[in-house]
Amino acid sequence: MNISIMDVHGRILKLPVMRRILFVILLAAGVMYVILHCNLWRADGNWLPSTDADKKEQFIACSFRSTFPSFIMLDKFYPFLCSNNFQKVSEHHGSHKVDPPYGIRRAERYFHLALSRLSNCGIYTEDDGSASCKRCVVVGNGGVLRNKSLGERIDSYDVVIRMNNGPVVGYEDDVGRRTTFRLFYPESVFSDPVHYDPNTTAVLVVFKPHDIRWLWDLLSGQHSIRTYAFWKKPAMHLIYKPHQIRILDPAITKKTAYDLLHLPTRFPKQVRPKHPTTGLIAIAFAFHICSEVHLAGFKYSFDDRNSSLHYYGNDTMSLMFQNEYHDIAAEQKFLKELVDQNIVVNLTE
Ligand SMILES: *[C@@H]1O[C@H](CO)[C@@H](O)[C@H](O)[C@H]1NC(C)=O
Ligand SMILES: *[C@@H]1O[C@H](CO)[C@@H](O)[C@H](O)[C@H]1NC(C)=O
Ligand SMILES: *[C@@H]1O[C@H](CO)[C@@H](O)[C@H](O)[C@H]1NC(C)=O
Ligand SMILES: *[C@@H]1O[C@H](CO)[C@@H](O)[C@H](O)[C@H]1NC(C)=O
Repeated sequence: MNISIMDVHGRILKLPVMRRILFVILLAAGVMYVILHCNLWRADGNWLPSTDADKKEQFIACSFRSTFPSFIMLDKFYPFLCSNNFQKVSEHHGSHKVDPPYGIRRAERYFHLALSRLSNCGIYTEDDGSASCKRCVVVGNGGVLRNKSLGERIDSYDVVIRMNNGPVVGYEDDVGRRTTFRLFYPESVFSDPVHYDPNTTAVLVVFKPHDIRWLWDLLSGQHSIRTYAFWKKPAMHLIYKPHQIRILDPAITKKTAYDLLHLPTRFPKQVRPKHPTTGLIAIAFAFHICSEVHLAGFKYSFDDRNSSLHYYGNDTMSLMFQNEYHDIAAEQKFLKELVDQNIVVNLTE
């Protein structure tokens, strides 16, 4: 009797121990799987809607040149928000807990509404052909482009990325004709149809909640556009068609600010928080979609306040010194690093 009880007890005691060991092994395997899986898709850089198989393929196909340093390679992710998964992606990046420009909080509704109107969130159009890696040039609006006749050279890249209202019309010799992507915000986007280009994908950078609301107002055909929240009158209509418009994932802007420019995450109450310029955000965007990035028009002549700020118009450098929203010194330092380390080639040294 005693022995059989012991026997039974023995088995009863032993089994849970085995189970516990098995459980621990399985748990460890599970944790390893998650860690490996995360690292792999981080390195591959595809955080994509699984339904968008083509886009995913297209994106994976473009891996970086090995000379791109780890701070750019890590965490490469899909640059646009898509209506079918922007909430999931925002949670993944922590964007749901932060107001624009680095998140979507307090504007989720308008992100949702605007995205549901934009039929397309692909990177390249179909007729663009190959899913091969792209050589990109990011064209800044700097006065340094004047009279350099770089137009043909700029047009020779696979992808030409421009920003804001830097015109092509009338400046073709110096800045080229093609525009693959144009990053913009409501105060900076063209409203004159003379600048319309059917081959351009226009990418909204959302700096404040009203920017995404503005897009929704325009897409939904609102006649009374709210303009009070803007530092300059925003465009009252869009020259681009909805299928040409994308919304940049705020995680790209956040990465530009913190990982590339190392801007502080907090500012004292009396100091205006600084955010990256569209130009630097465009460079970060290029790192996500290109295998090679070249720059033009990113140099300023700080020692001559009368020199031209842009390659167009009459603004002078003195305007740059009044800027409180950006940290131009940090941006110039970062650009110098990129060039010094041969991460990018600067056509306008
Ligand atoms: C560019 O060239 C034009 C015409 O040749 C000239 O009038 C202008 O002063 C030049 N601008 C600069 C910045 O050199
Ligand atoms: C748009 O692309 C097509 C096809 O590549 C080309 O023929 C046309 O000239 C381009 N239009 C502009 C405005 O660049
Ligand atoms: C800049 O322009 C202002 C007014 O046009 C002029 O008075 C000043 O001498 C100029 N400065 C330089 C360094 O050219
Ligand atoms: C720039 O200045 C010139 C000469 O003063 C003037 O004719 C032109 O309209 C100005 N351009 C802009 C965009 O203000």
